[in-house]
Amino acid sequence: MKLIFASQNKGKTKEVKALFEGTGIEVFSLADLGNSIDVPETGVTFEENAFLKAKAIYDIYKEPVIADDSGLTIEQLDGRPGVYSARYSGENCTYEDNNKKVISELENLPEPHLAKFISHAVFFDGKQKIDCMGELPGRIILESRGTAGFGYDPIFIPDGFEKTIAELTFDEKNKISHRKISFSQIKEELLKYINS
Ligand code: IMP
Repeated sequence: MKLIFASQNKGKTKEVKALFEGTGIEVFSLADLGNSIDVPETGVTFEENAFLKAKAIYDIYKEPVIADDSGLTIEQLDGRPGVYSARYSGENCTYEDNNKKVISELENLPEPHLAKFISHAVFFDGKQKIDCMGELPGRIILESRGTAGFGYDPIFIPDGFEKTIAELTFDEKNKISHRKISFSQIKEELLKYINS
């Protein structure tokens, strides 16, 4: 079976291809298909945005698609940055700009600054929609630590750890990450669906 992964992100594509290895499902990224489309994330939830991407790519190729949307939600900020995680401090902002904005919003609030990374992965083949969610709970610290990873990793300490995600190795992050959880679940659901 052919499965298109509706993402331009090389890191995520690598993870998803590795996850489906040996299942008989062959994953093609948009780059593999020579497609540079960037589907606008106009939804107000992660699930909505993931489905928008899956549906837009399904409409082009009429082949089964998986897509995802993810971000950070902070309890004391009423769930922000949420679906605006990528562009929290404005269009074309850097990860550092976003981290600075979060730190400035939290610095006068009492600790702990509880937060969660969330990932929604969606499968769509024109008939069936499958949605799976993964969460990584933790807390935000007010100084950046570490150089690995991306995004909010340098200011996020997962529950049960003393290090930020940016101080963990790639493999350590990939064992616990919100994306690992949502994609592993969608793989299981998809294999059940295909074999039903
Ligand atoms: P998207 O799912 O590619 O739209 O990612 C949205 C944004 O959420 C990213 O640009 C990051 O700012 C943030 N984000 C999502 N996952 C992670 C993660 O694993 N670490 C750090 N930041 C993340």
